[in-house]
Formats: sequence, structure tokens, C-alpha cells
Amino acid sequence: MARQPTDLADPRVAALVTACESGMKALLQTDRAEVFFYSANGHGGWEAVIANLVGAGTAILVPGTGHFSDSWAEQVAAFGGEALRTPYTEGMPIDPAAVEAALRDDSMHRIAAVFVVHTDTASATTSDLAALRRAIDAARHPALFVVDVVASLAAAPFAMDALGVDVAIGASQKGMMLPPGMAFVAANERALAVARGTVAPRFYWDWARRRSEFSYLKFCGTPPLSHLAGLEAALGLIETEGLDRVHARHARLAAAVHAAVTAWGQGGALRLFTRTREARSVSVTAVEVAPGIDPEKLRSVARERFQVAIAGGLGPLHGRVFRIGHLGDMNEAMLLGCLAGVQAALQAEGIACVGGVDAAIASLLE
Ligand SMILES: Cc1ncc(COP(=O)(O)O)c(C=O)c1O
Repeated sequence: MARQPTDLADPRVAALVTACESGMKALLQTDRAEVFFYSANGHGGWEAVIANLVGAGTAILVPGTGHFSDSWAEQVAAFGGEALRTPYTEGMPIDPAAVEAALRDDSMHRIAAVFVVHTDTASATTSDLAALRRAIDAARHPALFVVDVVASLAAAPFAMDALGVDVAIGASQKGMMLPPGMAFVAANERALAVARGTVAPRFYWDWARRRSEFSYLKFCGTPPLSHLAGLEAALGLIETEGLDRVHARHARLAAAVHAAVTAWGQGGALRLFTRTREARSVSVTAVEVAPGIDPEKLRSVARERFQVAIAGGLGPLHGRVFRIGHLGDMNEAMLLGCLAGVQAALQAEGIACVGGVDAAIASLLE
């Protein structure tokens, strides 16, 4: 990323863009979708989708997953769309039956798309995309299946075409191991056709405008060359390790974190926020603390005394959970260091917890 950006007409720019497009398609496992890159964060990726698919009054079903689906629904509403929600149960993934029921109720097919957050980073919960696809099909509803893979791509398995996903949205800073600042959206022909019919002002985000062979038009201006250079390198790292191995590494490290939290939890002060094993994210773990424990204090002890950064609870989970991230550029030594730091902070705070690091090691040895 630190290499000198070239001028825009340099043939290496076009080659870099082509490499990033084809690498992203391979990662997303799609032959059918076109990939658009934006100089933006994940909210920019969301906005790209909304600007192309949501006109005034367009109904979008945004099933509850926690803070991030709530925020996306707010953004839909800010553009004049109608965000319909399904009931959300804390610590649980999306209920496919609720999605099917909402779509069946929509006999006039007003709902243009179902916006699903695959892994909600706030609740550390991953929903079952294949089950959601089946729910849409069972309701015989034409809604587009739009999936936010910001926190799951290159960590949990995701096969866009096989899952029947019409639009996928990602961002640079998580499993892609890059600095924040670049978002990408992959949209298939069905989605591009719906976008052509969306009546709403758009320019920078416009997929139709960006469908060009020229880099300058593809990016609606100067491409984010440093991010693209980083993306090419990140895709190379993933390819070298092998995507299946990348997924297996994430599953192995996540299982070690879950084992650690389960062991700590025997003291009664902590528990895994995500209730079912299958829905526990391989990217991030939310740890719920018992009333009377301040996770923000714990975070500051972990950071100041033990040099370990752990995340706090977002939205309604603020003050109720802390979160351990374990995705992207992550290995056993980094993870064990983190867990030891968290355990040290828990002990420093006098919170009953033993055996978490040992349990993590045992899990890694399985
Ligand atoms: C699942 C998910 N979607 C969207 C976003 C929004 O991304 P950003 O913070 O880059 O705008 C995040 C951020 O953490 C996220 O975890």
C-alpha cells in the first residue's frame, strides 16, 4: 500500500483493477455478479445499495440481528424507504420462519429486497443464509436477497451464486485485513435490472454509471490506488493460504475463544451472548457480563495494564457485553496473548474466572 501511486493512465492501474475485480469474484464465489468498489466505509457500501435499490416508499425487509441491522434499517428510512422488521430475540440469529411469514404476508410483492446482516458484529451472531434463501423461495417471493458480509467475508464460508445472493456488501477493514476506507458491492444481473428501474437521484453510487471499461468511470473518479494495491496483496495472502484453510483457521480460533469464555463463565460472572453454538460468529465473540460488572472498566484495565484492546457493547448492549475480535490477520499466538490479557484484566478486577486460557489451549490441541 505504501508504494507510489501511478498516474491514472498507467496500464498498471487497469491491470490492478482487473486483478482486484477477479480476485473479489473468486472470493465471493460468483461468476454472475459485477463488483463495484467505493472509497467509503461499510456505511458507504450500505448507502450504495440503498441508492440503487430504494426509491421513495420502497419496502425493504430488514430482519433483526442487533445493532447493525437496526442501523441499516435507519439508513433505508433516511432515504424515504420503508424498513419492515422481523421480531428479534437477543442472542439468536434471524428466524427464517419469520422472514418467510413476512414475505407471505406481502401478497402484493411490495417488498423489493431482504437486507440481511450475515454476521452482526455487535451481537456476534451469524445467521444461516441457506435457510434464509429457502425461506424466500418457500414464500415464492421475488424480493432480492441482499447480504452484508462486512464482518464475515474471508472468515466464514460464503458462496454468493450457490446461495442465491443477489447483492453482497463488504468493507476493507475486517477479514480483508486492510485499513478502513474501501467498500465493495457485488450485484448480479437481477439486482442491476431492479436498480435500472429505481427512481431516485444518484450519481457517485450509481451502478449503471460505473459499468464501464475505464477505471476513471468505474470509480466515478480517481481510484483509491493504495487500497487497491492492499486488496491485491490481501487476496494473494488468502489465495496462498487457501480459502478453506482460512475458514478452518477462523473456526479453530473462534472455538478456542468460546472454550475460554465457557470456562470463565463457570464462576457465574460471564457467559457467551450468542445462545446457540451454530450461530456463534467465527469473527467476533460477545461476552455478556453479570449485573454489577462494568465491561467498560474491564476494557480500560485490559488496555492500560495488559496492552489488549477489547471492544465494548454497541447500542442496547453498551454496558452489558465486551467483545473479542478474532478475524483476519490472526493466529494462535495472537489469540492466546489476547485471552491471557483478558483473563488478567478479569482477575485484576476480582472477577471469579479460572481456566479460560487452559481451555483455549485444550481446544486448539483437539
Ligand atoms: C456487519 C457490519 N456492517 C456494517 C458495518 C459498518 O461499517 P463501517 O463502520 O465501516 O461504516 C459494520 C462495522 O463494524 C459491520 O460490522
